[in-house]
Amino acid sequence: MCSLPTSEDKRYLNRKEPNSDAGIYQIDENTALVQSVDFFTPVVDDPYLFGEIAAANALSDVYAVGGTPLTALNLVCFPCNKLDSEILKRILQGGYSKVGEAGAVVVGGHSIEDEEPKFGLAITGIVNPRQIISSSGAKAGDLLVLTKPLGTGVITTALKGGVIDVSEVPEAVKGMTDLNDKASRAMKEAGVLACTDITGFGLMGHAKEMAEASNVCLKIKLDSLPLYPMARELAEQGFVPGGTYRNQEYFLNSTQFMVIKDERSTEINLIADPQTSGGLLMAVPPSGLSKLFNLLDKAGVRGQLIGKAEELTDKFIVIE
Ligand code: CO
Repeated sequence: MCSLPTSEDKRYLNRKEPNSDAGIYQIDENTALVQSVDFFTPVVDDPYLFGEIAAANALSDVYAVGGTPLTALNLVCFPCNKLDSEILKRILQGGYSKVGEAGAVVVGGHSIEDEEPKFGLAITGIVNPRQIISSSGAKAGDLLVLTKPLGTGVITTALKGGVIDVSEVPEAVKGMTDLNDKASRAMKEAGVLACTDITGFGLMGHAKEMAEASNVCLKIKLDSLPLYPMARELAEQGFVPGGTYRNQEYFLNSTQFMVIKDERSTEINLIADPQTSGGLLMAVPPSGLSKLFNLLDKAGVRGQLIGKAEELTDKFIVIE
């Protein structure tokens, strides 16, 4: 996209934030469209579960900007000559159920023949233009809250390798299918002004993008980072997805480590671990923290305080 000129159309509200989670386009004084799309290859063997995870993941960008999803379009790549069409039906049913849980409607889609199955959705939602939450809103002094543990990259890598079964990682499976809707509603009510969701770039990449967009440094406490059960063991055993190394290539030079000495340590791999349907990373003013945690608790969302935003000095991210 960086080779393309950015539209100057003023209705494209976040045109100056190329890394934002969703495109936002003003319709009238009180309404803006929120649009996002994501699709990927299967992360689990069970087609229905894959459909649910892909939908929760695609919906997440709309929740990250404080929007409400309305409609969804399926994107399907499928090898019709190699795989049973029942598998595709199950994938679509899983996606359909998640979109329904989000209160949105599947209104169509498009499919093509492809060697490897892929599934995802294009989501359209709405947001009040005065209540958009962006990754550029973090201020020095804000506290950082993460709403899901990390480690789905290593876990899905081990699942794909057949080393573990989904029954051994129920927390991660539930986490990936959980919508970020409740977390999003809680942050809106608590007055959070900066948020992004943690997906393919990992905590390291998405935190860097928030820090850069907000012109602050995000100081993250290593010991406070929540991990799914088995994530650390699997990372230690080497189930590190290729995306982890790409993330490190892009983002390591923006990151300062106060406590990790070995550049190839498990910790760094987990901080850079690409997430599927990860949680929301919010920056909340200290005065709003207890309200946010009360609302998250009430909604059954386990928020974790992982650090704070400070004035930018040298690096966008400091791991301490
Ligand atoms: Co996102």
